[in-house]
Amino acid sequence: MMSKFVLVTGGAGYIGSHTVVSLVQNGFKPVIVDDFRNASKVVLQGLEGILGEQPILHEIDVCNKESLDKLFQQYSFDGVIHFAAYKAVGESVAEPLKYYRNNILGLINVLSCVIDHQVNNFVFSSSCTVYGEPVGQKEVTETTPKLLPESPYGYTKWMGEQIIADTFRSAPQLRIMNLRYFNPVGAHHSAQIGEFPIGRPNNLLPFITQTAIGKQEQLTVFGNDYPTKDGTCVRDFIHVVDLADAHVCALQFLWNQNSGVIEYLNVGTGKGSSVLELIKAFEQKTGLSLNWKFGPRREGDVVEIYANVDNSFKKIGWKAERTIEDAVMDAWNWEKHLNSLL
Ligand code: WQD
Repeated sequence: MMSKFVLVTGGAGYIGSHTVVSLVQNGFKPVIVDDFRNASKVVLQGLEGILGEQPILHEIDVCNKESLDKLFQQYSFDGVIHFAAYKAVGESVAEPLKYYRNNILGLINVLSCVIDHQVNNFVFSSSCTVYGEPVGQKEVTETTPKLLPESPYGYTKWMGEQIIADTFRSAPQLRIMNLRYFNPVGAHHSAQIGEFPIGRPNNLLPFITQTAIGKQEQLTVFGNDYPTKDGTCVRDFIHVVDLADAHVCALQFLWNQNSGVIEYLNVGTGKGSSVLELIKAFEQKTGLSLNWKFGPRREGDVVEIYANVDNSFKKIGWKAERTIEDAVMDAWNWEKHLNSLL
């Protein structure tokens, strides 16, 4: 009999909190593990506002194996979704050891508990950064060769997938899904939860909304001399609610397997949008004129990458439903809501 308890490490974070909503709305019982090093407790009120009650929460550092073990003894988890990791490309170039310790040790601890406590369904928050800079074809499929990443953050995901693959070889009963995210953006349409950068945002859309609301003076576009449609980098910006739903579809797929499996799926929209296109979408949807300028390139940036998502639909019956216009509007509503709280 399934307990329907699902461990969500990093569940108070941006993608984690949106996935908690999708899990509850699909009949699962998420158990959040988070030490709030990269999340704010504001999210708990938001989750209560959407779900009518706060989800189960344990303030645990995934680098603390003993605490994690105790939690696995307390619940008979039917699945684990492992989000807890640092994820800013630019920051990882400046602080590599912080990224390697947290992202790799955290994964090893969670995976060890999955094995020791026979929880067979494991979803890993991987990343398109495992592709590095795609050579030639910018639309990547899951079989596009994994080149060497461009940043320490990318290496932690690249190595993470290798650690998981080697573990699967030693424990073929495991049912594993590696979800390779592209660029998560936006917020829940209720504006109750969203991206909550601690300090100066590394990512593009939160920097746009913070500039628009006056928290940041001016947005700098890192580079306008790239060989792309308008000289700025191109990314596959995927709405965070679509991304959250992909995790539920992935878990249901794993549940339906009769034996061990390991899969890799791109989770994106299948469309590339440039930095300038995202800025223009924001200005058009909000009617605001954003204060921005061009600046030098940022080290570690990939020039252009976006997903081929055929497999995601074929394997788990999922595809993105929302657009970048939806994302910029939801992100702006969240920024205004956040501003009303603080
Ligand atoms: C996007 C573009 C910047 C800020 C993200 C996640 C990472 C991974 C991949 C999931 C780049 C430009 C940004 C700014 C700018 N996702 N930019 N001015 O680097 O693609 O990585 O997606 O695993 O976790 O962080 O995202 O939003 O930082 O940058 O011009 O102030 O926007 O140069 O071209 P990135 P990003």
